[in-house]
Amino acid sequence: PPNAAPKPSSWVSPNWLTSLARSVTLSGGDDSGIPIVSAKLEDVSDLLGGALFLPLFKWMNEYGPIYRLAAGPRNFVVVSDPAMAKQVFRNYGVYAKGLMSEVSEFIFGSGLAIAEGQLWTARRRAVVPSLHKKYLSAMVDRVFSKCAERLVEKVQEAAINGTAVNMEENFSQLTLDVIGLSVFNYSFDSLTADSPVIDAVYTALKEAELRSTDLLPYWKINFLCKIVPRQIKAEKAVRLIRETVEELIQKCKKIVETEGKKIDQEEYVDEADPSILRFLLASREEVSSVQLRDDLLSMLVAGHETTGSVLTWTLYLLSKVISYSLKAHLPIRLPPFDASRVSHLQDASSLKRVQEEVDRVLQGRLPSYDDIRNLKFLTCCINESLRLYPHPPVLIRRAIVPDVLPGDYKVDAGQDIMISVYNIHHSSKVWERAEEFVPERFDREGLLPNETNTDFRFIPFGGGPRKCVGDQFALLEAVVALAVFVQRMNFELVPGQNIGMTTGATIHTTNGLHMKLSRRVTEHVYVPLHSR
Ligand code: HEM
Repeated sequence: PPNAAPKPSSWVSPNWLTSLARSVTLSGGDDSGIPIVSAKLEDVSDLLGGALFLPLFKWMNEYGPIYRLAAGPRNFVVVSDPAMAKQVFRNYGVYAKGLMSEVSEFIFGSGLAIAEGQLWTARRRAVVPSLHKKYLSAMVDRVFSKCAERLVEKVQEAAINGTAVNMEENFSQLTLDVIGLSVFNYSFDSLTADSPVIDAVYTALKEAELRSTDLLPYWKINFLCKIVPRQIKAEKAVRLIRETVEELIQKCKKIVETEGKKIDQEEYVDEADPSILRFLLASREEVSSVQLRDDLLSMLVAGHETTGSVLTWTLYLLSKVISYSLKAHLPIRLPPFDASRVSHLQDASSLKRVQEEVDRVLQGRLPSYDDIRNLKFLTCCINESLRLYPHPPVLIRRAIVPDVLPGDYKVDAGQDIMISVYNIHHSSKVWERAEEFVPERFDREGLLPNETNTDFRFIPFGGGPRKCVGDQFALLEAVVALAVFVQRMNFELVPGQNIGMTTGATIHTTNGLHMKLSRRVTEHVYVPLHSR
């Protein structure tokens, strides 16, 4: 029938992006009411560079907020509408993680990030209490600030020599160091050293990215994993990471058992080791070491590259001199924007305003937990960066039972869904001046934007039961890292760079973010950490 879903092309490739470029031209619709994308070769050339979310955006503008995309044997319904996203996120019983679990099981095992059903409920209940306020406050003082300071120290030589620095790489190392210390009190020390464990983490992350774009999940076939070099490397890497984390668990277990300490208060922080691992062991919950290992690895992977990419893109946005406009606009439910409050800053760039705020609030100190709520404009810049560059740009679900999405679109059981966070965040139907960097849109009397107060227009951390557990952690980490960097360094984009986008689990630059740095001299004297 003319309206039937397209048959998969007989042509196959291990990479579904390539396959999509060659896929049949599709037309018509089916009884779901969902239009089917007519993908022409020239439309999908972007896919070959790996930035899948860019053609998805183009198709949203042509086909509307929901369309069907067939890529070889895979068939996705792509959703770019806040109300539809809200329904999918909130109904976790109807939509499961699906493909996401399949591509990342090799590293997450049965960890929190991809577990389903009762196992997920139990693990989420166990892990969430570990990220309490006292823990976050301890992390700001003991981990985030120190690591940010180390980064600044590390780049001094390049600043003096005038050598360009790849800030994307440096931020990735910074966030790996932070997450290692915060989750299992392990010092990767990747800012200043190389180690096989660090290489293994990067190999495993890369493999997860590649799997999410492979058309044929050949890595599900056991014997192929034993002979394909990429798979051999990935397996070896995961083995090393798992062994390292297992050792940490055993060591920590011994300490907890010897000390005989048990959690005696809700917001428990062990002074010697405030890590999440210590909290989970001290809570004496019945959990196997393998499950614990997989949960910790879930947090390592989910919290590393994401936060690194936020730092990269925020610094990039700040490095472009952007003048204000008073017509910053607003997601619907936030209170009205008072233009008079920023009118005196009309000619200032966002960077100048951030520098002024950091100097005024910190007076040369490193940030403390209480300072962060006063670094309001920097926080707006980070949120605006999360709007323009969400990580990951596309979230995936699979319908377990049939459903009807707002607008009367029918979804069959088994249907794979892509929620394009990028499309929702860039849609001119959802945001005014959607493509511009306007941090003031989030300048709302201390009200931080989230999925609830923007009615799913702003969803960088997802929403519903499976929303990110590390959202506050990540925001605090990003504010501290950028505050310390901006406080002490001037930075300028190396001219002539093409800052393209490419994807994996996050939006990366295509060639790095190369900056010329110099020490920033202000009237404030910096107070070293130990004398605070
Ligand atoms: C889940 C984004 C940082 C731990 C998620 C999800 C998103 C997200 C969008 C939902 C995925 C989905 O619905 O399929 C981010 C961003 C971060 C960040 C943008 C940085 C700016 C962190 C950090 C941690 C973390 C620092 C750990 C400390 C997790 C975990 C999940 C998750 C464990 C799975 C939760 C579950 O399935 O119940 N994250 N994340 N994330 N995130 Fe984050």
